[in-house]
Amino acid sequence: MEQGNKTKSLSGNSKQFSPLSRKGLVIAIDGPAASGKSTTARLLAKRLGYLYLDTGTMYRALTWKALRDKVDIKNPKALSELARSTRISLKPKSDLSIRVYLDDKDVTSFIRSPKVNKYVSLVSTVKELREVMVVQQREIARCRSLVAEGRDTGTVVFPRADVKIFLQASFEERAKRRWKENKERGLSLATEEVEAELANRDRIDSQRKTSPLKRAKGAIVIDNTHLDILQTVERMWEIVEKKMT
Ligand code: CDP
Repeated sequence: MEQGNKTKSLSGNSKQFSPLSRKGLVIAIDGPAASGKSTTARLLAKRLGYLYLDTGTMYRALTWKALRDKVDIKNPKALSELARSTRISLKPKSDLSIRVYLDDKDVTSFIRSPKVNKYVSLVSTVKELREVMVVQQREIARCRSLVAEGRDTGTVVFPRADVKIFLQASFEERAKRRWKENKERGLSLATEEVEAELANRDRIDSQRKTSPLKRAKGAIVIDNTHLDILQTVERMWEIVEKKMT
């Protein structure tokens, strides 16, 4: 079956994602936590009229389910089985937000909790679980123009993406942003706590064996330590425009 073939290798089978089968582009944006990927990718997608695919929400949703169902987070087999038996769908809303459904339950408000933050990187190290996610991500993207963002969208999920961007910012700036984000959501965490969680996620995401966070071949780096959201989107827009002309 086609799906079976697709799960064989994370980086294989990229031919079927040829941009020739779509009208617009495939744009892959990767980068570390709190580098501003979600907000900027969403705005860029809106400006282009493209689909926005936040791959992180899928890993978060699975992590939430694993915690809820008391699946052993240290057992890769159990996590892979969980991924295989879970249905995740993403529904874009008119206000640019995305609702995340897990087995038809809206889990959007649960997946950014401190507990999910704490375990999501660990869960995301599991190769077989990632294979299931990548198949679903490519399925969502089939024949569509889109802006995808995450850790491996340019390296693994869409290795033939038309535009690849690696978005980064200094550790201090990212920690500040994450602290502020938490505050706005009513979570008053100590700076040290936010920094420790970010450092931990950075370490696991960039050192894992399968699909580590790294700059994809051909990716253009944007360091937005000193740029705000709109300035960052503008930089992205310039890169995309060049590709279109
Ligand atoms: O929003 P934030 O940058 O904090 O993270 P996210 O994009 O929601 O991703 C949460 C976690 O999911 C990351 O720290 C990774 O461990 C994992 N992830 C991944 O492994 N691969 C992706 N393509 C996206 C997320």
